[in-house]
Amino acid sequence: MNKDKLSKAIGNSPEANSSVTWSNNLKRGRVPGPRMKENKMLPDTLGGSTIAVHGGTYEDPITGAVGTPIFQSSTFNFSKHTYDSFAQGLIRDIPTYTRYGNPTVWSTQEKISQLENAESTILFSSGMSAITTTLVGLTNRGGHIISSFDVYGGTYNFLREDIHQLGRETTLVDGTDLAAVDAAIKPNTQVLFFETLSNPLLKALPLRGLASLAKARNLLLVVDNTFLSPICLRPLDEGVDIVLHSCSKYMNGHSDLIAGSVSGSRKYVDRIWSQMLKFGGNVNPLSAFLLERGLKTLALRMQAHVSNSKQLAAFLANHPKVTRVHHPSLPNYEYPWIQEYCRNGYGGMVSFEVKGGNEAALALLTHLKIPLVATSLGGVESLISLPFNTSHSFLTEKQRQQIGIMPGLIRLSVGVENIQDLTADFDTALGQI
Ligand SMILES: Cc1ncc(COP(=O)(O)O)c(C=O)c1O
Repeated sequence: MNKDKLSKAIGNSPEANSSVTWSNNLKRGRVPGPRMKENKMLPDTLGGSTIAVHGGTYEDPITGAVGTPIFQSSTFNFSKHTYDSFAQGLIRDIPTYTRYGNPTVWSTQEKISQLENAESTILFSSGMSAITTTLVGLTNRGGHIISSFDVYGGTYNFLREDIHQLGRETTLVDGTDLAAVDAAIKPNTQVLFFETLSNPLLKALPLRGLASLAKARNLLLVVDNTFLSPICLRPLDEGVDIVLHSCSKYMNGHSDLIAGSVSGSRKYVDRIWSQMLKFGGNVNPLSAFLLERGLKTLALRMQAHVSNSKQLAAFLANHPKVTRVHHPSLPNYEYPWIQEYCRNGYGGMVSFEVKGGNEAALALLTHLKIPLVATSLGGVESLISLPFNTSHSFLTEKQRQQIGIMPGLIRLSVGVENIQDLTADFDTALGQI
């Protein structure tokens, strides 16, 4: 290819410049989205429940359908607009192929962006896909990631077993200890990655301190906000760069799909999107539709989770068979800074230890009638599990105790059932162990 042809192909010949205005213009604006004119845009002064119901919804101009349609199509007709958009560098903003983007997926993304106060969101096929794609997309070979010992097991395994194969190093610290995070920073550190509320001990991050540290040291702060949802905490408002979720939990709320999301400024989310294109972890349109439907009740559900978990934590803390309860609403909670940034309570998770260790905890599970014994969290139904034989079974007893997972520890995702029924069920079951 001769030089002129090459410059034309990459868009910097005088001829190309006449129609392609962006290629040499480093100041070119980044548009929020992707979004379509059919997506309902709401002022950010509206409350979370209004945004959850209406934000982003695709208002179909042909049928007037109240719900967002499912665009079950892998590919889309090219038009002059498609080619013009390619030429303008707007490939993420037009429908071409569903791995790149899809109108149903964009509608759900837009709802999440409005809930998170983010410029842009990407949906993924799972929370793990969101996490792995983000960590690879925001770092380079030779880069360094600081994270925590007690992140979700899948994340921990990826950081320990896989990411070094891609040339990134990691250091695991206690994310609630600002000085420890500061001490772990190296010249090649690029990303700090933590969970806003940890599993299963519900330790809260010193979020504002971490955001200032990240800014001062020119690092990206990425948080997994799965346990709190944007109704309780909007991390971007606190100075975080990227917030992600396992949408399989509170965001969807019905324990019937697996998905993930990543939200932040368009600049960083675009980088993660181009990594997503290569790893291929896009969500499918049907799951995006189900997620948008679930999100409509997010604020309502979170109110019930917050209120039920607070009442159940108080009940358990006063029960003679319970030796310890971990919940941010209790007076002995060791991470008080959560009150600075949690706007509407602390989600619906409670963990507690019973007298008699793991044997008594296992017995309790068999006596309970309402909570289902299952892993996962954030559904309308209460779910209960024991970290020692589920999420943390890969650690030895000694390692579990070192990170504070004592024998008899139970993890409970409090659902939206009637609180008197839940309390009575726990009272009866505890009486039987
Ligand atoms: C805090 C947290 N992050 C991420 C994940 C992974 O999400 P998914 O199961 O949707 O891949 C989970 C799953 O349990 C989780 O609890």
